[in-house]
Amino acid sequence: MADQAMDFAGRHVVITGASTGIGRATAARVVAAGGMVTLIARRAELLQQACITLGAQAGWAAADVADKAQLLAALDAAVAQRGPIDGLFCNAGTGGTFAAVEDYADEAFDQVIAVNLTSVFHAIAHVAPAMKARRRGAILVTGSLASERGMAMNAAYVASKHAVLGLARGVALELAPFGVRCNCVVPGFIETPMLDALPPDAMAAMAARVPQGRTGSAEELAEVAAFLLSDAAAHVTAQSWAVDGGLLGTLSL
Ligand SMILES: NC(=O)c1ccc[n+]([C@@H]2O[C@H](COP(=O)([O-])OP(=O)(O)OC[C@H]3O[C@@H](n4cnc5c(N)ncnc54)[C@H](OP(=O)(O)O)[C@@H]3O)[C@@H](O)[C@H]2O)c1
Repeated sequence: MADQAMDFAGRHVVITGASTGIGRATAARVVAAGGMVTLIARRAELLQQACITLGAQAGWAAADVADKAQLLAALDAAVAQRGPIDGLFCNAGTGGTFAAVEDYADEAFDQVIAVNLTSVFHAIAHVAPAMKARRRGAILVTGSLASERGMAMNAAYVASKHAVLGLARGVALELAPFGVRCNCVVPGFIETPMLDALPPDAMAAMAARVPQGRTGSAEELAEVAAFLLSDAAAHVTAQSWAVDGGLLGTLSL
């Protein structure tokens, strides 16, 4: 059998939420493996800086993924600049706010669903026809421990992350006959700006609950994300793949 190590030569991967954290690290990993990337997020200056660091293989398009027109325009710009999309990583996400369900503001709930779920539906629906026609493509969505377990005081986030895993599984089965894969990567506690917002003692408490005794890095997550987007994972689809130091395997989560 041919070596199917992570080789992205000639491949174009589009990554949302690529201005920082997991998306940014995955872009670097794909470029390191010879691929082209298009980075999508709202903060143009961060995207521009990232692309300067990553070099000519990288381009960017600023968009708020919750705005369908902006999202689809960014995807179209990616194709116009770097050719057909071989990999789509729907990773942009927001943590929402923490509040009791009766106090959770309607607008806040709708915003979390728009970013974490509806944008993923729009992006997949937009790229799927070309992937089906080319009979190749890999889609990856970013879930959460909240895709697999409940969590108090953030109903919107848990609902969105359960739903995005369901979306990925459904799409995977629909697209499998066309040679297109779709998976969900599940970060545990990964050191990114999203977790930086927490107080230091909360980070330490979280790390202590991980069987490995530590949080993970964006690079460790990116390694698995790149694998799932690559031909090395050619027979992997409809999966939820945790990168969590063993958290989901414990009774004490
Ligand atoms: N870190 C963890 O421990 C952890 C755990 C579970 C799940 N996750 C998930 O991992 C994904 C990436 O998060 P991260 O940890 O890498 O945190 P991060 O560094 O804060 O990254 C979040 C990314 O999403 C982008 N984004 C947010 N809202 C957006 C919008 N409306 N339109 C376009 N882009 C938007 C942000 O870019 P702009 O602000 O520039 O738009 C940023 O690039 C998220 O889906 C998150 O839910 C992370």
